[in-house]
Amino acid sequence: MRRRPKYSIIKNSRIAQSSRVYDQVNLYGCTIGKNTKIDAFVYLEEGVTIGDNCKIRPFVFIPTGVTIEDNVFIGPNVTFTNDKYPKAHGEWKLLETRVKRFASIGAKSVINPGVTIGENALIGSGSVVTRDIPDNAIAFGNPARVVSKREPVPVTSTRPHGVKGASRH
Ligand SMILES: CC(C)(COP(=O)(O)OP(=O)(O)OC[C@H]1O[C@@H](n2cnc3c(N)ncnc32)[C@H](O)[C@@H]1OP(=O)(O)O)[C@@H](O)C(=O)NCCC(=O)NCCS
Repeated sequence: MRRRPKYSIIKNSRIAQSSRVYDQVNLYGCTIGKNTKIDAFVYLEEGVTIGDNCKIRPFVFIPTGVTIEDNVFIGPNVTFTNDKYPKAHGEWKLLETRVKRFASIGAKSVINPGVTIGENALIGSGSVVTRDIPDNAIAFGNPARVVSKREPVPVTSTRPHGVKGASRH
């Protein structure tokens, strides 16, 4: 990690040297790959894994059981979940969620527990994702439905087709 974030709580986490973590971030027992940016006010629970070249925008919540692969964009205020029938006390069942490489999730979306968001899929802003989303799909709405497709990522690419730089969102 290149800079020391202010007012952040970072415990038992593995963060690649080339990644950046901004201020007011909470990370517990998570793993963050290379060249990934974690913006301010992001909360990651224990065991969360985030891959290389990802961008996690401010106010994102990612609980235990979520895996984010490489080159994923998570928009501001996105909320992941891991318990389908939450309650304050007693037993609960963790449902795992995966976001595959090159996927993007639009601002303020909610991802219900146990879904897989496919490779290079794009979730529109404000969506509620309740079912798996296939590779290369564009989906939005509540509940999120597939509305169109986008070009697959070229096999050798480390960046999505047509995207040149790491511009700011
Ligand atoms: C999903 C998305 C990619 C669609 O873009 P697009 O293909 O150019 O679609 P358009 O803007 O032409 O909209 C097409 C229709 O879908 C609707 N629509 C678009 N995005 C929507 C969304 N997120 N939720 C619900 N409806 C949406 C539009 O209202 C429009 O409906 P209409 O034809 O009845 O007027 C885009 O709207 C989106 O949500 N991008 C994510 C933005 C974001 O969160 N960025 C984070 C970086 S800050």
